[in-house]
Amino acid sequence: MLMDAAWKFSQTDTIGADKAGFDDSKWRTLDLPHDWSIEHAFVQNAPTGGGGGYLPTGVGWYRKRFNLPKSALSKIVWIEFDGVYQNSDVWINGHHLGRYPNGYMSFHYDLTPHLKSGENSITVRVDNSLQPNTRWYSGSGIYRHVWLNIANPVHVAQWGTYVTTPQADSSSATVAIKTKINNRNTVSKEAMLRYIVVDANGREVAKTEIPVSLSSNNATESGQQLTVPTPALWSTESPNMYSLRSIILDKGKVVDEVTTPFGIRNIEYSADKGFLLNGKRVKMKGVCLHHDAGSVGAAVPERMWVRRLQILKEMGCNAIRTSHNPMAPEFLDLCDRMGFLVQNEIFDVWKAGKAKYDYAIYFNDWSQHDLVNFIHRDRNHPSVVMWSAGNEIGEQSQPQGHEVLRPLIETFHREDPTRPVTTGNDHIAADGRSATPQFLNMLDIVGYNYVDRWRDRRELFYDIDKRANPQWKMVGTENVSISGIRGNYFGGGFGGIDSSVIRPANLPGVIRAEQLWKFTALHDYVIGDFMWTGIDYLGEARWPAKNASSGVIDLCGFPKDAYYFYQSQWTTKPMIHLAPHWNWQGREGKVIPVLAFTNCDTVELFLNGKSFGAKAMQFPRPGNSGAWNRYDVPPVGVTTADLHLLWDVPYEPGVLRAVGKKGGKIVVEEEVRTSGAPAELRLSVDRTTIEADPKEVAHVKIEVVDANGTIVPNAAEPVQIVVEGAGKLIGLDNGNPFDHTSMKSDRRNTFNGLALAVIQPDNKAGTIRVRTASPSLKNASVEITVKKRDPQIAILESLNK
Ligand code: GAL
Repeated sequence: MLMDAAWKFSQTDTIGADKAGFDDSKWRTLDLPHDWSIEHAFVQNAPTGGGGGYLPTGVGWYRKRFNLPKSALSKIVWIEFDGVYQNSDVWINGHHLGRYPNGYMSFHYDLTPHLKSGENSITVRVDNSLQPNTRWYSGSGIYRHVWLNIANPVHVAQWGTYVTTPQADSSSATVAIKTKINNRNTVSKEAMLRYIVVDANGREVAKTEIPVSLSSNNATESGQQLTVPTPALWSTESPNMYSLRSIILDKGKVVDEVTTPFGIRNIEYSADKGFLLNGKRVKMKGVCLHHDAGSVGAAVPERMWVRRLQILKEMGCNAIRTSHNPMAPEFLDLCDRMGFLVQNEIFDVWKAGKAKYDYAIYFNDWSQHDLVNFIHRDRNHPSVVMWSAGNEIGEQSQPQGHEVLRPLIETFHREDPTRPVTTGNDHIAADGRSATPQFLNMLDIVGYNYVDRWRDRRELFYDIDKRANPQWKMVGTENVSISGIRGNYFGGGFGGIDSSVIRPANLPGVIRAEQLWKFTALHDYVIGDFMWTGIDYLGEARWPAKNASSGVIDLCGFPKDAYYFYQSQWTTKPMIHLAPHWNWQGREGKVIPVLAFTNCDTVELFLNGKSFGAKAMQFPRPGNSGAWNRYDVPPVGVTTADLHLLWDVPYEPGVLRAVGKKGGKIVVEEEVRTSGAPAELRLSVDRTTIEADPKEVAHVKIEVVDANGTIVPNAAEPVQIVVEGAGKLIGLDNGNPFDHTSMKSDRRNTFNGLALAVIQPDNKAGTIRVRTASPSLKNASVEITVKKRDPQIAILESLNK
């Protein structure tokens, strides 16, 4: 049962707040998930520094009272936290349950011996005061969901189900299940364990029952295999899911039932062919992602991830690396349901730390505990196809570093023999301190961070290493993307580049990304690539910037030009993207390079109706087919080896139009227009109807447009967002890394024409009206209908039956 509602919170370190009778009536009431850091202003001298995004951290206390009926005292009750950053102490009714350092992993405590009927209180102290303790923005507090689990003494243990599909093809699949059952009775039990596999339409497709002998006060592992005929296989295009119902019966009576979503799929890694999903080669077109979502910090309503993942899907992305920590459990549920392959990464450091107070302090005591829980928690997700034991780990180049890797790999293999283990290595052949052969040879898959970084070898790295180690399986765990700031066409940080020169997207970055992608695409043995990063993230910045701009999508989820490079290479639905915008007053007659990313055969560019010619690129370039001088695809004229097109266009205001053809036919057209002065604000919302559930937010896009409705691409106009009715504003941002306005403010300037408001519904049905209040522009409004949520099953009440 979700236990997010109505907690008390104080950001003062309070002596005695752990005591059961403590008076918290003056504390603030809030609902979880909650991140207190993001509520504050960005300050240059914050102890987190640029790593943490210049937001304050410190200590926070949470308290929650809840009532239990008498009947609950005969039950087993445990509390489960999906993530608390960090160093949490938890008390139940004044009794200390434990301290848990890791800020990203889920953990749980048994409350059973300390409960009473009537009112109980949970207290959590969160200590994020030692700084710096991570290299990016962490958030502070109980920033993920909390659950209260109530079960009979005989029950399936937390993370006690393990489902695999050792054999799976379209004709049939073997589903192998292991279940850990706790018997908390003082007597042994003879029970039945029933498994029912249910497909996405709710139909039972396999069923079995086995007797289990459960000794008193003990945990027992039991297992069985089932056959599912003609299964709907899970893949990135068709992410078909099944669910497993594990039911325990005691003398014919159901005493526990848990449902585990899973997928039927077959994964294989080959040193020659790369990654195979259900027997077919799939190149991982991946991005690295951090866990925050910009304006809401680390407390991210699920719906925000849905939108972000949809935007990535539309780019053609099919894979995600959880850099560099466990994500919220629901993130993996979404990857399952939306069809992403996940490289699930647990650590950024082992014993050799990177920040003064980071996890290296806890590694010796906690790493095995955290790792086992991480594997148990996440191993049923079909999306998870690879584990990563760490990122840019110092031990990679230490003479005995592989001895730190060894027990981690052993645990992965023991707890989940079905998936390979990698690490992201940035020193494969670094000067003076290369990763050791022992370390790299111990990995199931050698992960390359910045394969194109070292000296003259660049991406040839893969090739040289492959010749020396033909048995290695290789993946680009992290490589640089084009990055840059959305809508910014100047500068770019490369020495000597004149900052008055217009660059349509970050061209040096474009060319680097193109070269790497050509290598990755053409070499089957390279499993794929996870570029750094899909989306901008808070922290890892240097003032005046407060967030990293390595993403191809900004903090609001607005694509940058670079997004369309990946889309042009990773998708087939005809597209053209033009850059830069076409508002260059004062540069009339001067040449502006116009860039197109496209997946069309040819693109012809027109300015105000005048053609600048059709251009084409072909990659890979087709040769003859069938016979000399016969081509499957009509050849285009010789082009550069670039994966973008460029025209030199003397500027005059008006309309740039690009016409894309495939097979000689026009398949797509794209326009960019010169706008007039800002005249109005335009609002659009991703969903006009949402449920009355805090996980269900609506995203309101704010655009500055001229009198004709053309977006003004460089507009920085002050906007205020007013929300009335059944919801509230929980974040307002514009994607500008240099904007220090608090994410919780209702006012902000648009950045390059855009801003984004995140609106959360209250727990009741109604209407939310979102409107702008601008002193100078014509205002706009949108309405969102909030539907009543299906009533949750009141588990506490059902206990009284
Ligand atoms: C990498 C590292 C990432 C991030 C990135 C910044 O070396 O793995 O976590 O720090 O550099 O460019």
